[in-house]
Amino acid sequence: MDKEIRKTIARLKEEKDAVILAHYYVDDLVQEIADYVGDSYYLAELATRVPQKTILFCGVSFMGESAKLLNEDKTVVMADADADCPMAHMAEVSRIREVREQYPDVAVVCYVNSTARIKAESDVCVTSSNAVRIVSKLPNRDIFFIPDENLGRYVAGQLPEKRFIFNDGFCHVHREIAAGDLISAKELHPDALVLTHPECTQEVLALSDFIGSTSQIIDFATQSDHNEFLVCTETGIFYELCQKNPGKKFYPVSQHQCCPNMKRIRVESVLRALETLEPAVSLDCELSEKARLPLKRMLELAK
Ligand code: 13P
Ligand code: SF4
Repeated sequence: MDKEIRKTIARLKEEKDAVILAHYYVDDLVQEIADYVGDSYYLAELATRVPQKTILFCGVSFMGESAKLLNEDKTVVMADADADCPMAHMAEVSRIREVREQYPDVAVVCYVNSTARIKAESDVCVTSSNAVRIVSKLPNRDIFFIPDENLGRYVAGQLPEKRFIFNDGFCHVHREIAAGDLISAKELHPDALVLTHPECTQEVLALSDFIGSTSQIIDFATQSDHNEFLVCTETGIFYELCQKNPGKKFYPVSQHQCCPNMKRIRVESVLRALETLEPAVSLDCELSEKARLPLKRMLELAK
């Protein structure tokens, strides 16, 4: 990358007392300039520990909202105002209230990929890296898992003692990774292990050797003695997979494993956001009070 851009970013970070956090799905160059890159859980937890007064978030809006909810006093700036995860909107407050009436002892478990409005109606948040552990620690037998049905079904499969109610939300990027494409890719690369994000369909999960969050996929591949892997998640992850494993081969399953919202974030948008400290995340006080609780409970239970 251009040396001048690097210098400008370093100067602005110093001037604004800012730290850059990025998700593994953003563009390679953005991952390169970030101070920290990680999965949703790592980034949310890290946001509570960084000393800088400004967090510049290279990810989708629910990630910036979580960072702000956990850091009332800090300025959280999004690298792109319009980078939003469609799944984060796929749960209805009216449906949550209806389920609570129908099942009085239900725990509403909210995947962190959700708006603050949905979190505010929930009992606990989870990410793909800690969902099974956190749900297993809940005293409730009935679990309403929102918004992602695929992740919910994956967690339910690991915890047969619980009774799950599902919601019909989905990630379009992971849902479009088709079992038929994976079968063809396995024929092309018979020695490859299949590494899959739990937002994929049950058919794809059933064909996989390892299922985990983005960080867990990277750790698994890095520790594995295998040399070839088929990767069922967004292709931004290939940057870190290849950085950590220069001798290993990683293949996507199809041409469509790309999240258009994550890919909106460019080095130019990072520069602009650092210069202007806009758009800053701002949340209604009353809503924040409520939405913060399930996130904090997640951090407690994940310890
Ligand atoms: P991770 O928590 O695995 O990083 O996943 C976030 C996400 O948006 C998956 O689509
Ligand atoms: Fe949302 Fe899917 Fe993009 Fe993740 S990959 S941010 S779940 S649309």
